[in-house]
Amino acid sequence: MTRIVVVGSINMDLVTLAPRFPGPGETLLGSRFLTAHGGKGANQAVAAARLGASVSMVGALGRDAFGDQLYQGLAKEGIDLAHVARLEDEGSGSASITVAEGENQIIVVPAANARVTPTQVEAARDAIRHADAVLVQLEIPLDTVEAALRLGRRESVPVILNPAPAQKLPAEWLSLASHLTPNQHELATALSADAVTDFRELMRRAHCPVVLTRGGEGAWYCDDTHPAPAHQPGFAVAAIDTTGAGDTFNGALAVFLHEGLPQAVRKACAAAALSVTKLGAQGGMPQQAELDAFLTDRSRA
Ligand code: RIB
Ligand code: NA
Repeated sequence: MTRIVVVGSINMDLVTLAPRFPGPGETLLGSRFLTAHGGKGANQAVAAARLGASVSMVGALGRDAFGDQLYQGLAKEGIDLAHVARLEDEGSGSASITVAEGENQIIVVPAANARVTPTQVEAARDAIRHADAVLVQLEIPLDTVEAALRLGRRESVPVILNPAPAQKLPAEWLSLASHLTPNQHELATALSADAVTDFRELMRRAHCPVVLTRGGEGAWYCDDTHPAPAHQPGFAVAAIDTTGAGDTFNGALAVFLHEGLPQAVRKACAAAALSVTKLGAQGGMPQQAELDAFLTDRSRA
């Protein structure tokens, strides 16, 4: 069984569906409101668990109602929560999300996620040592992200760095990650690079495979055997909510990495496509059988 450790955020998503995005000072009538379990770390953990991986999560929640619900949700997915701290004096992370015109806008309040510590990463050392891959994003403190990158390097375990949400990365991190998975915006921010044209430059600096996600257009990737960026086209679906598509991609990529990058990217694109057909970041994330059926169906078409 593939073993994955996710070091990252857990949020309650407060999702509002609206006909369009409001302007400053404007009040709009929306059509629906729901709470949904989210956070980039938790989403990636759930994506990997549904695809059959044994997943352990390192993170933090408040001891509040959202924290209880989020904890139970992750436990129900079979995710090991021994390294998820429950903080007495801090609330759980939240994300206020507006979905309109097939796009989303998100404001994240990190709360407990801002207190995921390097010490927690060290405490998860055994899980990390035995993992096939570690996933980390940027919704937790950067010194904790760095601790995960360094521990992975020390234990020779691949660490996939998903540089989301976008921010500039310390240059030395590029040689610590085993894979980088930015979208176009994150690539530009993280490295002040221009998407596909600067792929080679990024590769040269990163010393690791890079996978650029491009929403419905699929993904571009390069590694030692594909020094020129290769394209995996996206799978056409009727998109309801694209929130969490990137997280689904990353979770799936980690699970299938051992099948080689082209196959892992293909499966990750398919998993992400399925995820956008249902509301909520974790809604629509496929189980293994569902992904297999979708891929069989699409390769016949
Ligand atoms: O990537 C999607 C996630 O970003 C949402 O679930 C939200 O919680 C924010 O963290
Ligand atoms: Na979804």
